[in-house]
Amino acid sequence: LCELKALVERYRSGTDDAAERDELDIMIRDKCADLDIDAGDLSTLPGRLYEIKRELIPHGLHVFGGDMEPEDREQLVNAMLAATPALDRDTLEATIDANDEMGALMRALDGTYVSPAPGGDLLHNAEVLPTGRNLHGFDPFRIPSHFACKQGAAQADQLLARHMQAGDRLPESIAMVLWGTDNLKSEGAQIAQAMALLGARPRFDDYGRLAGAELIPLDELGRPRIDVVVTLSGIFRDLLPLQTRMIAEATWLATVADETADQNFVRKHSLAHQARHDCDLETASLRVFSNAEGAYGANVNQLIDGGTWADADELADMFETRKGYAYGRSGVPTQRRDLLESELAGVDCTYQNLESVELGVTDIDHYVDGLGGMAKAVEKARGAAAPVYVVDATQGGTKVRTLGEQIDLETRTRMLNPKWYEGMLKHGFEGVRQIEGHVTNTMGWSATTRTVAPWVYQKISETFVLDENMRARLAELNPKSSARVAERLLEATERELWTPDADTLAALKAASDDLEDRLEGLVPAE
Ligand code: BEZ
Ligand code: MG
Repeated sequence: LCELKALVERYRSGTDDAAERDELDIMIRDKCADLDIDAGDLSTLPGRLYEIKRELIPHGLHVFGGDMEPEDREQLVNAMLAATPALDRDTLEATIDANDEMGALMRALDGTYVSPAPGGDLLHNAEVLPTGRNLHGFDPFRIPSHFACKQGAAQADQLLARHMQAGDRLPESIAMVLWGTDNLKSEGAQIAQAMALLGARPRFDDYGRLAGAELIPLDELGRPRIDVVVTLSGIFRDLLPLQTRMIAEATWLATVADETADQNFVRKHSLAHQARHDCDLETASLRVFSNAEGAYGANVNQLIDGGTWADADELADMFETRKGYAYGRSGVPTQRRDLLESELAGVDCTYQNLESVELGVTDIDHYVDGLGGMAKAVEKARGAAAPVYVVDATQGGTKVRTLGEQIDLETRTRMLNPKWYEGMLKHGFEGVRQIEGHVTNTMGWSATTRTVAPWVYQKISETFVLDENMRARLAELNPKSSARVAERLLEATERELWTPDADTLAALKAASDDLEDRLEGLVPAE
């Protein structure tokens, strides 16, 4: 990547010699081909390379009660200062070092006092330091905040612009995933996105407390009301009941607004649902779905991890079964899987936000579970896949990427980046387990959305399985996980999510056998 960057800089700095330019052009395109980068329009390359270069990545894992290495601490402080230049380096370093996580845990277990602290992302709010305090989220009556409403509306506009950039018309219906913790970190920006798309805003009482929703008049909105199907994590449902009811009120108000179908897609679709399901308008206006009370997750991640699914439609079925509970204005859920399914059939695109540099879509399996599961359910209901987007608000500003672009970026900056995997491998056994998790999540994205490029599997195979030194290192640190990495890559080929060339496939099988042998060497003979 550094070599490519140097070539691009030479090309950009401009030479009048046509032959030299042609030569550079060829070298750049060759280098791009080596790196599985689509060279395309060379003038856009500097921006694309800069995005990879500036991407912040987690370095290793947090060790509870441990102090940060001075070098890691310096890099963390650099990132915090870049995000908020007004902060003071010495103070930040001192607050990082002042953590008393173990002491606080012991006090909590003793049932005594643990001092409070705001929760959230370090780059958004330095007040979360020192760690080892009792996280308090928020004042539930003030979410979404005024700031979050402005930010959410701008982000909703960016999402619409990105979708239409691909030549599509304005979407009539968008399905999104909302998480609780992310809304706490952003004071409700993602909730505000849903409201903005619907053309609604929160209504506050005389004390400034959240009291419900109200519609933004169409002439003020300046575009049609876009229908939104929201699937909430169980954590969101537990943490933010007022906001759950507020979104339900917004879809209800839009449903009964005296507006034409071409200006109000919510009403248009509610009337269609009413006819199809022979139900009342209140039922037809339901757009907020989550688990049954007391249940969490779509379990799509468990199917993928267990490798037990035969047909990808099973993943969609699991998602609908788990998330098919509609939450209306009363806040009491009803099982309406049929309604969820017919609403997803009308969806033009799906998306979820990223809210912290610590968590990407390949780091944990909950993104595949919620967004992947939903995207697969949309594909099944529509009979064709819909674009999947990721709204990245982690590094100041907002960037809307396709899911494919996000996986590309994370694979380059995390999985294939020695800085990332060496940081993980310092943790030994657990580090290999994290690498295994990334491979499983990558396959999960293929299973649910088919948006993973073949080179991703090829390079992961080369780096972690086909490289003999690395394979031996992983097997030494964690025999089970290293064997599973190879098995998972083979599973991807068996499921035809990736079709490598014959040599790669043969090498993978041989490496997998080697890892199995090493693993069995550990099992005592019976
Ligand atoms: C949530 O905050 O809603 C959430 C966090 C992690 C995984 C899933 C959901
Ligand atoms: Mg879980």
